[in-house]
Amino acid sequence: RAASSLQQECFDTVRSVEENAEIDWDKLGFGLVPTDYMYVMRCSNGVKFSSGVLNPYGNIELSPSSGVLNYGQGLFEGLKAYRKEGSSGFLLFRPEENALRMKMGAERMCMPSPSVDQFIHAVKETVLANKRWVPPQGKGSLYIRPLLIGSGPILGLAPAPDYMFMVYAAPVGTYFKEGLAPINLVIDDTVHRATPGGTGGVKTITNYAPVLKAQAQAKSKGFTDVLYLDSVNKKYLEEASSCNIFILKGNVISTPATMGTILPGITRKSIIEIARDHGYQVEERLVPVEELIDADEVFCTGTAVVVAPVSSITYQGQRFQYKTGAETVSQKLYKMLTAIQMGLEEDKKSWTV
Ligand code: COI
Repeated sequence: RAASSLQQECFDTVRSVEENAEIDWDKLGFGLVPTDYMYVMRCSNGVKFSSGVLNPYGNIELSPSSGVLNYGQGLFEGLKAYRKEGSSGFLLFRPEENALRMKMGAERMCMPSPSVDQFIHAVKETVLANKRWVPPQGKGSLYIRPLLIGSGPILGLAPAPDYMFMVYAAPVGTYFKEGLAPINLVIDDTVHRATPGGTGGVKTITNYAPVLKAQAQAKSKGFTDVLYLDSVNKKYLEEASSCNIFILKGNVISTPATMGTILPGITRKSIIEIARDHGYQVEERLVPVEELIDADEVFCTGTAVVVAPVSSITYQGQRFQYKTGAETVSQKLYKMLTAIQMGLEEDKKSWTV
């Protein structure tokens, strides 16, 4: 459909969200609330994606010998749509960054990928088709999950012959069960998320299941999530299971550099830019675990997580505590980022679509 017709559809949204009686907007977490439609686009013989369609949200059929089921040939993305302040439309945050990251990941995983235009079009279509599920201002966002999978059958180890690109969406609130309250991390130096030469730097589905056990063990001990160290020296911070990590000491904000084992987060990149614009010195480098001992603040960033303050990190039985609360740098950065994402502040960088 033409862009103008898509825009036209935005105009009823305020009414339609009020009519969405199936959901209690005050109780949103990060659970799956199935929505109405998903976008599906296919690519046969590994060359180009044809035009896509909106289908009712539901199960898909896959060959038992599909590349994704047998060899993990798959990527995903995550981005959010917010109701725009003072308007009946919606805002997406830097969707072209997700499209480009998927292209980069697809190249690493030997997959064809949708073009940037195809990706953004699919995301817009999915949001508009599910507009009644975009939470009211201040209650959350519509989390959008693009997926690229090797859907065609393959027995010997090789790229799948056919691919599916799908986009589905779900209304979400805060990611961690703590809500906006600070989280408690534990460092597990026996499990590693990524290795040099591996796929830690791309958003492949295979980066996530391997941390489930460490995450479950941490949760059973009362921690929110696990922070991983590099696999070679077991000395430098990498990232948490679902987000990037930052530490603050004085006016200096440090975060692990993206050198192939760390996900190049779009929230990470945006927070670095916002912090620099506001006079902080931001260093992307190797961050030794010892720097956690006397850090002033620690926080995590991610699309799902946004900016999550860290209250404590436990490492080899020692618990280090950090400043949290309204007066912290992480809170200021959180507010500045979300003001842009929700259209509460002028988007001088043209990050929103
Ligand atoms: C996101 O933040 O969008 C992610 O993809 C992380 C995921 C583990 C929820």
